[in-house]
Amino acid sequence: MNDDQTGRKAQTRAQFNAIVADYDFGPGCFAHFGRRLAAVAGIEPGQRVLDIASGRGAVLFPAAELVGPTGYTVGIELAEEMARAANEEAVRRGVKAQVRVMDAELLEFPDGAFDRVLCGFGIMFFPDQDRAMAEFRRVLKPGGRLALSTWSIDQAGEFKKVFVALELKAPEPPGWISEPDVLSQLLTRAGFTNVDVRADSQSFRYADVEEYWRQARSTGFRRALDALDAVQVERVRTALAERARQHQRADGIYFPATALLAVATR
Ligand SMILES: C[S@@+](CC[C@H](N)C(=O)[O-])C[C@H]1O[C@@H](n2cnc3c(N)ncnc32)[C@H](O)[C@@H]1O
Repeated sequence: MNDDQTGRKAQTRAQFNAIVADYDFGPGCFAHFGRRLAAVAGIEPGQRVLDIASGRGAVLFPAAELVGPTGYTVGIELAEEMARAANEEAVRRGVKAQVRVMDAELLEFPDGAFDRVLCGFGIMFFPDQDRAMAEFRRVLKPGGRLALSTWSIDQAGEFKKVFVALELKAPEPPGWISEPDVLSQLLTRAGFTNVDVRADSQSFRYADVEEYWRQARSTGFRRALDALDAVQVERVRTALAERARQHQRADGIYFPATALLAVATR
């Protein structure tokens, strides 16, 4: 790992440790797409499942439910505060799945240890995506399945449009993948077969702009916002409130999000 990659991981870890309390605040976009990812992975009772970049368990908990009491689910996470919050939630729910602190690019599991490897909205943060894919494939049994998601239009998408309109610095991390073909090529290059990438959309209801604002601040957008001065932040809030008016319905503001769900076989 070179210095740049080490620096990016340290930044990612600090960022997610800082936003853990507000993570997936509001309508629960990550929880929704976590359930969708676990569903398309074709998980069967009794299987062994690894969830990479677990966050607070959006994918982990549905996966644990699908493998049932005879199965085994484990998660890994770079940010220790995220892992701690997920493990507390597991205890609260009475789920035996655990999240260990580990790097997705250096998996501490033997070859062929899992039937399914899942990764929800994690790959954009990995500095060496090819290495991560090689690791995901290594720990899968032959014939085992990988399921991973990225954003086509992310849950902070309106924010992004406001940034562009105000000519502020684009907030995406360098590894963002939003095109199905690019995701498909990454998986094929790693040696996966039967690669299938599909777009999956959902509209999410926010009580008001404040709720959307707080939710967007608990995403990767936080870093971009924190880099602005007070005047710029106010301009962003005003522009966001104007855009929100177009999406206003009687019971709240509806913003769409579209995930890319990829499934592939080892
Ligand atoms: C957007 S969150 C997604 C979390 C969860 N999968 C979900 O769907 O809600 C991305 C997560 O990836 C984790 N992450 C980033 N780089 C990682 C790495 N190299 N190894 C393990 N986890 C990583 C972050 O700490 C963060 O919790």
